[in-house]
Amino acid sequence: MANSVNCASRMDAIQAPIIAVIGDLIRQTPGTISLGQGVVHYGPPPAALKAAAGALANTSTHDYQPASGQPALVGAIEEKLRRDNGIEVGRGSRVMVTAGGNMAFVHAVLAITGPDDEVILPVPFYFNHEMAIRMADCRVVAVPTDFRYQLDLDAIRAAITPRTRAVVTISPNNPTGAVFPELLLREVNALCRDSGIYHISDEAYEYFTYGSVRHVSPGSFADAERHTISLYSLSKTYGMAGWRIGYMSYPERLAAAMAKIQDTVLICPPVISQVTAAAAMEAGPAYCRQHVAELAEVRDVVLAELRSLEPLCSVPPAEGAFYCCLGVNVKADPMRVAERLIREHKVAVIPATAFGLTDGCYFRVAYGALEKATVAEGIGRLVNGLRQILTK
Ligand SMILES: Cc1ncc(COP(=O)(O)O)c(C=O)c1O
Repeated sequence: MANSVNCASRMDAIQAPIIAVIGDLIRQTPGTISLGQGVVHYGPPPAALKAAAGALANTSTHDYQPASGQPALVGAIEEKLRRDNGIEVGRGSRVMVTAGGNMAFVHAVLAITGPDDEVILPVPFYFNHEMAIRMADCRVVAVPTDFRYQLDLDAIRAAITPRTRAVVTISPNNPTGAVFPELLLREVNALCRDSGIYHISDEAYEYFTYGSVRHVSPGSFADAERHTISLYSLSKTYGMAGWRIGYMSYPERLAAAMAKIQDTVLICPPVISQVTAAAAMEAGPAYCRQHVAELAEVRDVVLAELRSLEPLCSVPPAEGAFYCCLGVNVKADPMRVAERLIREHKVAVIPATAFGLTDGCYFRVAYGALEKATVAEGIGRLVNGLRQILTK
């Protein structure tokens, strides 16, 4: 009898990672400028790299260590949460270090849901959030945002059912760059509290805001510690994406569930990465802010150039992170346009269908990974390419 393996899997229903799909197209077209991947152009603080080198000689680097994170790093995180986020760890909440913010999100979903439960995601969402929820055999309940990609509280309220376990917000936002005002986040957080569900707040871009706009942490609101899971990442702040360190503060009652997940998936966060992370955090947010000041100039170029495409395209305000989400005002297939932009104009952006914007033609433009001159060249190609593709 033929050797046949049943290949059906829960993964069959999950979307393919869009970054890899676009990455393949970029590789086939040498010279393409990528405004695709959400990474920064700088690396970790020099002191962090020195600490990493020093850790090699330390035998404990090579052992398993505490599941939730090394005391030195957890201590630095608790201090940072108090100072920068207004979150008092210990007053009903705990900290867990994970291999990046994405893993913290997966942990959170596994800890708070059962099969067929629902998680509310404002659209556009971050694709890995959608993928993680579906992998956990839960349902994504997508709710619209307004024309500026701001949260629609009524839509969120109307989407809550007895199966809802959480509302997810990302501010500053990937993929839109929107920053949600404090009042709106307070209302969402209170709605979650009153509905007996969790508020998962992804704050991977907490330091990436421009002008007078400020990021606020829902975990700092009164009584929030019992129902708020706050997610953070060192990937962007300290240019440490490859070191895979993120963390979360979460309600104490989830400690047993989190311990089971961590022990099964990671055992403990990579020790050398934790040593590097602790040293990076000593450099503090000033390290990131100097780069955000540079990014602010890049952002000005990006937004001014893209706005020259109006009324063919629209570009809502993008006051945080290093993204904006461009809407095309004529009928077009976003994947087809993205392919033509790469092949014919050597510039890559991400079709926002991956972010749940399936009705219409939208693209995420990322400008964190490149120097100013390269971004200017890339945006020039994008503007020229879109004009040609969309008007001919
Ligand atoms: C909103 C958001 N959360 C989490 C992450 C993942 O970060 P990490 O590298 O820490 O897993 C990203 C990365 O792009 C992101 O955009």
